[in-house]
Amino acid sequence: MLSSIQQYLPHHPWANQIQYFDTIDSTNTRAKQLALQGAPHGTVLIADQQTMGRGRMGRQFISPQGMGIYMSVILRNHVPVEQQMHLTCAVAVAACDALESAVGIRPAIKWTNDLVCGNRKIAGILTELVTTPTETCTIIGIGINCHQQEGDFPEELGGIAGSLTMVTGNAVSRTSITTALLWALLRMDQQLLPRKAQILQHYREDCITIGKSISILRMDTVRHGVAVGIDEDGALLVRFPDGHLETIATGEVSIRGMYGYIS
Ligand code: BTN
Repeated sequence: MLSSIQQYLPHHPWANQIQYFDTIDSTNTRAKQLALQGAPHGTVLIADQQTMGRGRMGRQFISPQGMGIYMSVILRNHVPVEQQMHLTCAVAVAACDALESAVGIRPAIKWTNDLVCGNRKIAGILTELVTTPTETCTIIGIGINCHQQEGDFPEELGGIAGSLTMVTGNAVSRTSITTALLWALLRMDQQLLPRKAQILQHYREDCITIGKSISILRMDTVRHGVAVGIDEDGALLVRFPDGHLETIATGEVSIRGMYGYIS
């Protein structure tokens, strides 16, 4: 039972700061409000269902009751934002670590933060900033599809979205995964700055975008290139057909042949 997750986290410093919701609009939206009201570092919000789950680029994150893990964590690190550019990458590596230890599979990462198994997206990460009069807090939002079967996804996600049950062929335990995730996020938080280079090296090893033909969508323009690496802040290095190299820090990146992107 996710509602009693606390009991599985003895000695975890965030265990007493977990708020559980049967249903909520979005744990990230609520976490932003709590951050503005002064909620402490390590406040965790977990919901069984979200009615307005949000993804990157203004997309919806479909969050049906009992089917997934919908979680947000508030971090108040007192670290300048420009020193935390790699945070989203670090969260993706932490989520892979947690899934590997709890379920026995290590997803790949599609830059920057989709977790992918067998060409299907099984989890997404949305990190958002909240600026208070005294500091900038980070909200880490993670959504993991756990129990869905093929027919449970809306038609437009057919062949694109997957779940851990579909990947493993077994029922998975949301409690075990959430527990592993909270430990992995704590470790990530402690290592974010001192082990930045190592975290990014792990990210590069998990990142399937590197070496692929990609398209980059920004505003109304689409550009094509080849992803050649990840820089020291987690940005994507892209080689364009005219030979020049660019560092891409934002925007939507599609991989040729994946999620229906063909040309
Ligand atoms: C993405 O796929 O673009 C990111 C999805 C992030 C979803 C999680 S679920 C918990 C938290 N609350 C939200 O509204 N979004 C994040």
